[in-house]
Amino acid sequence: MKLADLVQSADWKAEKHVPVIEAPDKVKAGEKVSVEICVGKEIAHPNTTEHHIRWIKLYFKPDNAKFPYEVANFEFAAHGESTEGANKGPVYTEPVGKAVIKLSSAGTLVAEAYCNIHGLWEGSKAISVE
Ligand SMILES: [Fe+2]
Repeated sequence: MKLADLVQSADWKAEKHVPVIEAPDKVKAGEKVSVEICVGKEIAHPNTTEHHIRWIKLYFKPDNAKFPYEVANFEFAAHGESTEGANKGPVYTEPVGKAVIKLSSAGTLVAEAYCNIHGLWEGSKAISVE
């Protein structure tokens, strides 16, 4: 078995687990570009002690390279836990992350998200560099 066999993908507009990458379609080489990654853009994912998005990782795979590069790693640690019990806590972290990147070549951003009960999900976005 390969890890890739366990990672699910789908249209993010219809499936709440798919990480959505918001970034320009085209950037200039070396310019700072904001990239926002979230889960639940169209259909909100639950954020409860029992059911939540625990992390999102972002990778970049250059078109002309064999291997992907890790770009950012977002961990979401608060999901309503407290000594009062599940979902009685004062804070929840929403599954949203922002990174500022600079690219020198075109490629694809790939995001991987982990739901604590529904496993691994991925989404991607191609970016061209001029
Ligand atoms: Fe889930």
